[in-house]
This record gives sequence, C-alpha cells and structure tokens, in this order.
Amino acid sequence: MMPSALLVLTILAGGTLAQQSVWGQCGGIGWSGATSCVAGSCCKTQNDYYAQCTPGAGCAGATATTMTTATSRGATTTTSKTTSTTSKATPTPSNTGRTRFAGVNIAGFDFGCGTDGTCNTSKIYPPVKNMPPSYNNPDGAGQMNHFYKDDHMNIFRLPVGWQYLVNNNLGGTLDSTNLGYYDQLVQSCLSTGAYCIIDIHNYARWNGAIIGQGGPTNDQFVSVWKQLATKYASQSRIWFGIMNEPHDVPSITTWAATVQAVVIAIRNAGATSQFISLPGNDWQSAGAVISDGSAAALSTVKNPDGTTTNLVFDVHKYLDSDNSGTHTECVTDNIDGAFAPLATWLRQNGRQAILTETGGGNTASCQTYMCQQIAYLNANSDVFLGYVGWSAGSFDNTYELVETPTGGGSSWTDTSLVKSCLARSS
Ligand SMILES: *[C@@H]1O[C@H](CO)[C@@H](O)[C@H](O)[C@H]1NC(C)=O
Repeated sequence: MMPSALLVLTILAGGTLAQQSVWGQCGGIGWSGATSCVAGSCCKTQNDYYAQCTPGAGCAGATATTMTTATSRGATTTTSKTTSTTSKATPTPSNTGRTRFAGVNIAGFDFGCGTDGTCNTSKIYPPVKNMPPSYNNPDGAGQMNHFYKDDHMNIFRLPVGWQYLVNNNLGGTLDSTNLGYYDQLVQSCLSTGAYCIIDIHNYARWNGAIIGQGGPTNDQFVSVWKQLATKYASQSRIWFGIMNEPHDVPSITTWAATVQAVVIAIRNAGATSQFISLPGNDWQSAGAVISDGSAAALSTVKNPDGTTTNLVFDVHKYLDSDNSGTHTECVTDNIDGAFAPLATWLRQNGRQAILTETGGGNTASCQTYMCQQIAYLNANSDVFLGYVGWSAGSFDNTYELVETPTGGGSSWTDTSLVKSCLARSS
C-alpha cells in the first residue's frame, strides 16, 4: 500500500529513484539502495545495520516535497491523520532526535501466568543462572550486560507473577525466598547502570477476578506495591510498572482509582520520585488508549503533591495483522494507527508515554516496519520516552518473537530484529 504510493511520489518529485522516500532505509551494513533522502528528510543512522530517512527541522531543503509526501500519506485516510503526519515534519524544540530509553524485556519470572491472572508458580523459568527450580537457567545478567554495553540500551523490564512474589498468599507479605531470587535479577539489572522496570504480569487480575472490580481488593494490590516500593525506595533507577495488560476491565474509572491508590502507596513508602507507569485497558494497546477512555481516566491519577511528575502512560503495540504479537510477519509501522494520534494527544495534554512491549519475527517485513516505528518514536522523543522490545530472558529460538542473544561471556550474537532495529550504535 504505502510503499508504491511513495515510489510514485519520488519519481514525480525528483525524476529519479536515487533519493529514498521519507521513512525508507538509506544505509547500513549490506544496504545497496539509495543513500540520499528526499528533501526535508535526513538519513539518520539508528545502528550499524540501519539508517532511515527521517523528517526533521535539522534537515535543510525544500519543505514542499516533505509536505507533499506527508499530505499524500494522510490523503487516503482522514483529515486528522493529515494534520498529525504534518506535525512529523516539524518536531517540537524539545525533541532530541531519539528517545531517552531503549531496551528489552527480560522475561521468565512471569512464565506460567495466563491472561486470566492465574500464575502457576511451578512454571516460572527464571533468567538467573544456577538457581532452582531448574539448573543452568538463562543468563539474564549476561544478556543485560551485553545489551547495555554492546547495544547501548538503558532500560530492562523484568516481568514477574504476583502469585510468585507473595507465594500465592493474596494480600500477604513478600515471600523472602522468591523475592530473593527475583531480586537477583533486579540487582543485576541495576548493576549495569540501566533503569529497571518491575512489571507485575497479571492482566489486572488474580486467579480470574479483576482487582477492585469483584476480585482482590485495592488494599490487597496496594499491599504488594507498598512492600516493593519500601524495598526499592532508595533506588532511583527502579521503575514501577503497576500492572501488565489490563483487559476487559468493566470500568476504566474504577481501574484508574485502583491505579491512583497504588501511586499514593508507592510515593508514601518513600519512592518519591521514580518513574511509575500507568497501564490502560485493552491490553495497553497504543491504538486504543485514547478511544477506550484509558488516557482520559488515567490522566486524573496524581502524585500525593497533586502533580503528575514521572507518572507515564504505559502502552504496548505489536506490528502483526491482529496486534497480538504472535505472528512472525509484520504488516504495519503503527504510525498512523497509533503513535501519531497518541503523540498529538500527549502534547495537547502535556504528558509522556513509554512503549514497554513491542516486537516481531526475525523477518524482512518486521525489520522494515519495526525500524519505521522506532524511527517515529525517536523523531517524537518529546512525548515518547522509549521502547522496550518483547522479548529476551528465558525465551529460546523456538519462540516467534525471540530477542534473546546467543553466546555468553564477552561474545554475544543478537537476533536480526534486535541488531537492525532495537540496538543503538552509541
Ligand atoms: C503447574 O505446573 C506444574 C508443572 O508444569 C504442573 O505439574 C501442575 O499440574 C500445574 N498446576 C496447575 C494447577 O495447573
């Protein structure tokens, strides 16, 4: 769809195919296509393997071509999309050209958790070496060191099941043994120098019932966060990811009240300034967060002092045909359908968001669309704080969306999607 339309435009604008269109690839190891970009966009290097034509104020040249391209992009759809794509060509002054954070998920302590909020704690597969329940577990610490040093990443999300943290005792104290194991992963994350997201991976539920809406009480959920915040209060790089992928939550305003209770508890436990991420309904879909009312409801959540400092919207987005993150082929860059309207909303409301799950297969289609999506986030870094790929950790290469590097010690090899799109060159 879009590529052929842009190709026609390129011919009309330049009379030659030598110039790459906006968001097209323009360099990187193994690239033999066009290396210059249409006017109004610059060839920006994302990493050794990928450079992309990115519109921006720093790109000298005829804005007319940029505007034509932008208009044509939105022309087949709606006026509002035309408006938002136009804003891509004029980033606000606070854009730095790349997001503050880039990283991956280090999954495993969440294995065995279902979308109904059940977690079979016998099925966790910790990405921590040489610990029970299975020997020679994946080297999450080594992976994070590699991602931090070689790929210049600076954030890792560490999913964990609620049941595991409290050893199936709803509302009870953190289990010292289980927390001890999980904390090994947290500490190895912190020791890299990166930010570390504690992600309770329970879909707003405990054993099939929704928190604050028929299931656990807010107090029971607040309890686990109050204890975690107390433990990590002095760590400025701990990031509190309140809940993974709420879905089919009946009342978004009631859910926002639950999130508000957790925010107050975390702050009052002494974690007064760290990032806290606010998850909406519909699996945190970046394409639904405005339309389903999540953005409006969660925008009322405040710190105890009445500010929204470091309260960040937490969204997910996959690039496959049904946004499920289960297919190895990608079909969209999510710009018109999700990130452009979200950027507009965030700017209008003075807020920021982070993409804590995104991923695709190690395929050509996912490389194209993922790199485009990330370039868009980078170009709108005033409102998008970063992205976190799904997933490394305990996944092996039989998993469709594997981002786990192979090797070890000082010699790791990345998957092709990480190498081409998620990694940074500096
Ligand atoms: C939990 O997982 C273990 C190990 O796979 C399995 O033996 C057990 O039946 C599971 N329990 C439930 C309730 O599904």
